Amino acid sequence: MAMNDEETVALIAGGHAFGKSHGMVPAKEIGPPPEIAPMEAMCLGWHNPKGPGFAQYTMTNGIEGSWTPNPIQWDNSYLENLFKFEWEQTKSPAGALQWTPTDPNSPKTPDAHVEGQMNSLMMMTSDIALKVDPEYRKCCEKFLADFDAFTQAFSKAWYKLTHRDMGPKHRYLGPEVTIEDGLLWQDPLPERDYGLVGEAEVAALKEAIMATGLSVSDLAFTAFSAAATYRDSDKRGGANGGRLALAPQKDWAVNRRAAPVIEKLRDVMADFNAKQAAGKKISMADLIVLGGCAAVERAARDAGVEASVPFTPGRVDTTQKLTDVEMFEWLKPIVDGFRNYVDGNFKQVSQGVAPEEFFLDKANLMKLTAPEWTVLTGGLRVLNVNHDGSDIGVLTDKVGVLTNDFFVNLTDTDLIWEKCDEEGMSFALKDRGTGKTKFTATRNDLVFGSNSQLRSIADVHAGSDGHQRFIRDFIKAWDKVMMLDRYDVKGHRRYAPMAA
Ligand code: HEM
Repeated sequence: MAMNDEETVALIAGGHAFGKSHGMVPAKEIGPPPEIAPMEAMCLGWHNPKGPGFAQYTMTNGIEGSWTPNPIQWDNSYLENLFKFEWEQTKSPAGALQWTPTDPNSPKTPDAHVEGQMNSLMMMTSDIALKVDPEYRKCCEKFLADFDAFTQAFSKAWYKLTHRDMGPKHRYLGPEVTIEDGLLWQDPLPERDYGLVGEAEVAALKEAIMATGLSVSDLAFTAFSAAATYRDSDKRGGANGGRLALAPQKDWAVNRRAAPVIEKLRDVMADFNAKQAAGKKISMADLIVLGGCAAVERAARDAGVEASVPFTPGRVDTTQKLTDVEMFEWLKPIVDGFRNYVDGNFKQVSQGVAPEEFFLDKANLMKLTAPEWTVLTGGLRVLNVNHDGSDIGVLTDKVGVLTNDFFVNLTDTDLIWEKCDEEGMSFALKDRGTGKTKFTATRNDLVFGSNSQLRSIADVHAGSDGHQRFIRDFIKAWDKVMMLDRYDVKGHRRYAPMAA
């Protein structure tokens, strides 16, 4: 959720100003969940046998009680009582551990269901943590001393909590849409105040990019790295904003290969923008993507296929100041199978999850179907977009040419794969007859041959008649990735294109 300490305290103290926790019945008395309840339960699981099974007998997490004397009112009594009283560990009727004031004269709270019954206040261990943790305590003390600051902090954090997975502000709807704007967690993008490039300028820019001498691999790597930061879970990331050129993304090991490319693209951008009349400009964010388009077109041409890779201008460059460096840092990838990257700390942080499972998760975050994921990886491998430029998984002798070699070699039964290390993280592809190593690869390559569903897709692209289709499908998937974050052109009703 990317909340800092103050936001965390405000949310918990504010959230627990209201309502109650439910734990009146021992968990062992509650019936099985819907999936394993008897058929005649008709999907009504967790049968509660006590009383009517709800109201004062409600049982959810097992902890019982309210945090404040008036749990339907916005006030500061959660923090006031947390700090005013000592709390001792007790047990709820369900047997869960919770905390009760040691002072018998501490304020009581009305029972939610039984008229006239007053109960002791309650805290959970996570509530007590706000008092005993030195950093959280500082925030609590600030809010205790200033109710208005608490109210303000809660409302801001609540707004963030309930909107942060909506992505760019383009996506907000309704009359309250401008309630808070330009907040750092919204990953703000400046308004475009210049005209868009047209067909002629795009063609000229592509030529200028290729004339820099940047390789197909470098250009494809950079464009893909920018666009692949997109996460459909919270609609963040993507190429728009040009954040690949800013901290922290520019400093991540997985992205470092992009730095010299961006430097060269800066010259192209400066040169082009200096020459433009009529207020037209190209942004770095657009140029990075356009470089990728030019590279893929060149790679297809070198493979004997004339193809046009779609390009939709309109991305803008944001600034370092408008980038939430601390919270972006949490998005640093541990694994990026597309660029054959596995972090040095992988073992410590992966908790037994295999690299290819992280890769699947990444593909899912990028909204890719299994065929899109497969064709994209096969194409990226022959273009060599490995994060370090190494030849691992680059199953071709013609690097930078958009062939289906990755699939041909991956599925070739004249060749045999062997583990190169104990844990099975790297592999060698050897000639079955001579035993000579032809290629090396990682789990993130072999998964497309070893998993039966991915294998069937790989087999289609490996076919001798599969090349044209492979290029067509690759370009489609490539374009999809480049456009993942383009809410500004996805017909959203808040989007009003600028007059060129
Ligand atoms: C460390 C973080 C938190 C923990 C561990 C936590 C835990 C819980 C638990 C176990 C319950 C009881 C659920 C039930 O029995 O029905 C509860 C209830 C509740 N929580 Fe939290 N919570 C946390 C943060 C928050 C936040 C951030 C909010 C809102 C901003 C919030 C608002 C509420 C409310 C309103 C209830 C009462 C629900 C009702 O009356 O049925 N909590 N919390």
